[in-house]
Amino acid sequence: MIRAVLTGTGSALPVRRVSNAELAQEVDTSDEWIVERTGIRFRHIAGPDETTATLARDAASAAIAAAGLSAQDIDLIVLATATPDQTFPATATKVQAMLGIDDCVAFDVAAVCSGFLYAVQVADSMLRTGVHRRALVIGAETFSRILDWQDRTTCVLFGDGAGAIVLEGQESEEADGRGILATRLHADGRHNDLLYVDGGPSTTGTVGKLRMKGREVFRHAVVNLAAVMAESLVIAGLSSEDVDWVVPHQANARILDATARKLGLPPEKVVVTVDQHANTSAASVPLALDTAMRDGRVRAGDIVVLEAMGGGFTWGAAVLRV
Ligand code: UT7
Repeated sequence: MIRAVLTGTGSALPVRRVSNAELAQEVDTSDEWIVERTGIRFRHIAGPDETTATLARDAASAAIAAAGLSAQDIDLIVLATATPDQTFPATATKVQAMLGIDDCVAFDVAAVCSGFLYAVQVADSMLRTGVHRRALVIGAETFSRILDWQDRTTCVLFGDGAGAIVLEGQESEEADGRGILATRLHADGRHNDLLYVDGGPSTTGTVGKLRMKGREVFRHAVVNLAAVMAESLVIAGLSSEDVDWVVPHQANARILDATARKLGLPPEKVVVTVDQHANTSAASVPLALDTAMRDGRVRAGDIVVLEAMGGGFTWGAAVLRV
């Protein structure tokens, strides 16, 4: 049996870091409101030369180096984004070219904030067929480009960034208990109007701006995330006591607290980066995972649960042994 084993992580952030106080000079908001309601203190905003693809390339290069590989070893790129560089071709192919990979399979996945979880399940399935050996799974976004900077209820919540992981297909003996143990995804398209972009190639012919009914999204998020994490643990044959770390989608510190509480997990086991990065949509889980791997919190052998929920609604979780 083949397992998809995590062998490297990487991340990248735009150079410009913006504090709540700086935002409050442009928008009718305050540091107190943003911190109290969301836990966010900073976000990074892409400059003119930074795009989803350049951030993805930098995160991917770091992940490939951490895995001890060279770019040519990669034979599959699955890139999750809701803010591609172009409507087409896929940003994954742009990243492939930037990395100098001559031939591989490369495509984008669109599931907004849970896009990385969708991408992980797709890559895991493709690796387990044995056809592909080494996959780059990337979450990369420049949400600053689709924010309505006049709308204080949304523009203070998001940031730009990218995270990437390398997954390698290994036979069970070589994997030695490591790898993706379970994935579980859901979608419920009836909730389109709670979190969406009011434009698109086939409707308005424009890119559009993000719209969100935050309070309703919040309510669904806590219920759905706790449920899908519990489901994924059952599939993996584990219980919440077995979990060393939860690496959640970083939308709101209150959602992280409430979800962990519902599962009986202590807050010390939850990786929190929302204060530094804000909500980076599909990038948030791999960004947080890379942060916790590099600062030594997540170690070899740990059981880690990844989870996310976003527009659609879509939501999902994955359990892995690092
Ligand atoms: O990544 C996809 C998933 N997304 C999420 O998970 C987001 C989920 N939702 C949330 O995180 C929260 O609902 C928000 C952070 C978006 C909002 O927090 P809330 O506690 O639900 O606030 P609210 O929307 O109920 O607004 C409370 C008040 C309102 O004023 P009134 O009507 O009570 O007078 C807003 O107008 O806060 C006001 N407000 C602001 N005030 C200062 C809204 N945005 C701001 C702001 N600065 N930026």
